[in-house]
Amino acid sequence: MLDAIAQLPLTFQNINAGVATAPEHAADLGDLAGLSPQEMKAMVERFAAAGPLFANSEVTRVFDPPAAEKVVRLADKVRQQVESNGWMTPAQARARIEQWQEQAAEQGRDNWSENGNRVVLSFFDYTGEWSRPWEEAGYEVWRFDIQRDEDVGDVNAFCVDFFSDWFGDFEGKEIYAILAACPCTDFSSAGARHFAAKDADGRTLKSIRLVHKTLAAIEYFKPAIWAIENPVGRIEKLCGLPPWRLAFHPHHLGEDYTKKTLIWGRFNADLPVAPCEATAGSKMHTLYGGSSIATKNARSATPPGFSYAFFQANNAIDHPLMALANRYDMLDPAAVEAAVQAGLSEDEIKDLVDDFYYMELDYQGANDALLEAADAAPTFSMWASL
Ligand SMILES: C[S@@+](CC[C@H](N)C(=O)[O-])C[C@H]1O[C@@H](n2cnc3c(N)ncnc32)[C@H](O)[C@@H]1O
Repeated sequence: MLDAIAQLPLTFQNINAGVATAPEHAADLGDLAGLSPQEMKAMVERFAAAGPLFANSEVTRVFDPPAAEKVVRLADKVRQQVESNGWMTPAQARARIEQWQEQAAEQGRDNWSENGNRVVLSFFDYTGEWSRPWEEAGYEVWRFDIQRDEDVGDVNAFCVDFFSDWFGDFEGKEIYAILAACPCTDFSSAGARHFAAKDADGRTLKSIRLVHKTLAAIEYFKPAIWAIENPVGRIEKLCGLPPWRLAFHPHHLGEDYTKKTLIWGRFNADLPVAPCEATAGSKMHTLYGGSSIATKNARSATPPGFSYAFFQANNAIDHPLMALANRYDMLDPAAVEAAVQAGLSEDEIKDLVDDFYYMELDYQGANDALLEAADAAPTFSMWASL
């Protein structure tokens, strides 16, 4: 059994049909029927020993853990704002989020062609909420959720052929972001009393497999931005994720309730806030207790304030340096910054770097080319404009 589990991380494999209690449990894991406590412990130890994720560090830093100063607890930012300005009323918070919506729509009008060359993949996105701002801003958005489409929406089906056959690997466009609101029922601390049964009958493994399919897609596409969302629980430990980067509650972003949510990944966690008092407490439990699929969907819908705040902090138009430094993550960020500061456009940087970066894996050559071009910037730009 453990040998089979060791195959799980970062490989695209196909698994099919089976016993279903929730959409994420619909896959058949073949001989991976479940884990004893000892096997679970051994798996976690293997992930811990392998370090925070297992992509080839000679070709990407996509899974690097966040530097301490980049980790954000939104509660701290909210506390400061509330100390100075008090809580926002629901109407004020709505107005702020509407401004963010308007800014996304404005990009959709003014930057349609640039954004249209960038693809956002949104996994486990039934409502479309997390990816909505990107779509409004003109990005090419693809949503994958088994409730939307049993075939093309099934993350278990992901493999190299899946993305080339269905999407022609997005026809040469940049995969800018991968967002993933992974099923949390087998990870969330709120369901801890069911963990032993789920570990034993294979439901936990099925959820782990979905996270690993997500990580495999991230490793394959190496997007500038990736983010996996889950409530507080055991996803990080069981799936071998790097440490989380952002912690927030929905009431930090215009809602009236608490639900401690963590986000793992590579992104700017310094989100703007719209802090409202959590007058409804943890209403997710009180109002939406129950296990029907409709209640589950209501409980897990991404709050729109979060979606727009995340877009504000992470889109490529407002954050060109982050977008390029993440895309070319093996380069010296100072060289990328010098080129951006010198006024080189994204296309100019791409022309200078891509052969070194993707064909020759010559990162020093790419750094040198950027620094040289930055030094010669006035001349470079003059010639480029002829
Ligand atoms: C925690 S919910 C996230 C919902 C999301 N926040 C939204 O606003 O729609 C998990 C989602 O994963 C989907 N799901 C479960 N198994 C899946 C699979 N094998 N492939 C794709 N989606 C799956 C469910 O349908 C559900 O919508």
